[in-house]
Amino acid sequence: MQIKVAPGDISTFAADAIVVNLFEGVDAPGGATGAVDVAMGGAIKDLIAAGDIRGKLGEFTLVHSMGRIASPRVIVAGLGKQADFNIDKVRSLSGDLARFLRRHRIKEAGLVTHGAGIGGLSAENCAAAIAEGTVMGLYRFLRHKQRPEDEFEVQSLTLVEHDVDKVSSLESGIERGRIIAEAANFCRDLANEPSNYLTPTEMANRAKDLGSESGYECEIYGPDWIREKGMGGVLGVAAGSTQEPRFIVMRYNGGGDARPLALVGKGITFDTGGISIKPAAGMEEMKGDMSGGASVIAAMSAIAKLRPRVNVIGIVPATENMPGGSAIKPGDVLKTMSGKTIEVLNTDAEGRLILSDGLAYACEQGATAIVDVATLTGAISIALGNVAMGAMGNNDALMNRVRKAAAEAGEKVWELPMYEEYKDQIKSDVADMKNTGGRGAGSITAAMLLREFVGDTPWVHLDIAGVDNYDRDKGVIVKGASGIPVRTLVNLALQDGEGASPPK
Ligand code: BES
Ligand code: MN
Ligand code: ZN
Repeated sequence: MQIKVAPGDISTFAADAIVVNLFEGVDAPGGATGAVDVAMGGAIKDLIAAGDIRGKLGEFTLVHSMGRIASPRVIVAGLGKQADFNIDKVRSLSGDLARFLRRHRIKEAGLVTHGAGIGGLSAENCAAAIAEGTVMGLYRFLRHKQRPEDEFEVQSLTLVEHDVDKVSSLESGIERGRIIAEAANFCRDLANEPSNYLTPTEMANRAKDLGSESGYECEIYGPDWIREKGMGGVLGVAAGSTQEPRFIVMRYNGGGDARPLALVGKGITFDTGGISIKPAAGMEEMKGDMSGGASVIAAMSAIAKLRPRVNVIGIVPATENMPGGSAIKPGDVLKTMSGKTIEVLNTDAEGRLILSDGLAYACEQGATAIVDVATLTGAISIALGNVAMGAMGNNDALMNRVRKAAAEAGEKVWELPMYEEYKDQIKSDVADMKNTGGRGAGSITAAMLLREFVGDTPWVHLDIAGVDNYDRDKGVIVKGASGIPVRTLVNLALQDGEGASPPK
């Protein structure tokens, strides 16, 4: 789908529909909406007066123009209350609008840059938010459907801008928004893909192909290398599966010989729970247990395309967690790459086992900061529901940077505490630690184990188990894999590239 900019006046723009907007509580529309209303002989104003258009956020009203203007239809998009308006609303509204256009089989639409005029936001950021919302909002996973029920696709969206001086900043906003949204959609493609297609080998192949396309380097390692490295966590989890594990390393070098920011993602392509097997109901959701890894791969591609002046290394240990004949069993002890040992009390707490090696590898590679992303614990959705991801770490400066990156992306994070007392819960009688910490504070005790593998390196762990998948469309979110937190990770790398010094 095309998103472009055309200089001109929306009220004379010819397309299948034009889209204007209205704040809640405004009865005499101004700006572009006012001009369209005048051209329509006051039709919009009449609908407002009749109470049929109220400007509520997410309200879309389709009005036929009856030949009064060049486009056959006018859509009035409600922006909600002006006081509550911000860039997140633009992004979310754009996702809803894109699906509204598709539902109404509108191929080509012209629209005003929501937010940039009367909303008072920067034109470039609004254009980026519109592109992001549109591209993410229209995403569907149709690969395995022979006959999708509705194959109609919106073909083009044109931002019609009367101020010619703004055209180039709108264009660069669209470009940035599209790159980031396409990365989020790539993450969704991997996470939605059934595990019989997306094996660890296939996940690695897709990471490699994406690297050639977007400009990062990609190294893929198999069982022999993993064994040589002493990665007992990865090997232990992979032991129960007939699928070989892969250790995926991606490098983007935009910052000379500076030490890299490391992004580490959990790549469990299917989590049965292993010998500590999960109940049958809902187990299919565990095809998405690699979405942390997918978000790292996807973020690397957007970073490589946006080219910030910084080095980033992406690390994804990928394996299935299966209960095969050679699977690890409760009570087994694994020796990780770092030399530290873990007693496996529950084979379903496998994410932390593979991440222990991923994090140790990030340290070995000289990372200045590490952010890991994982669908790590069911407990995080008990704590935060499907609204926010959980963040835990060992460094306030890095945590603040993650918060800022997430806020700019419109992705919500909430920090959980890492009090030393929690460490008692993962003390083991036979090994350096155990992989479960009992019922209380399950997300934190998981993070306490991860912390053992980062040394003094500033580190933040993002537990995305509550936000990686949704059951309905809303704004940029569509049913299925969410693509969270790709945009946060990209923003984090961009912060560095802008010259922010990495935390000490
Ligand atoms: N992949 C799961 C966590 C998960 C649960 C993700 C629900 C998405 C939705 C993880 O490997 C797991 O099974 N965690 C266990 C840990 C427990 C055994 C300590 C959990 O949360 O129950
Ligand atoms: Mn598990
Ligand atoms: Zn898991």
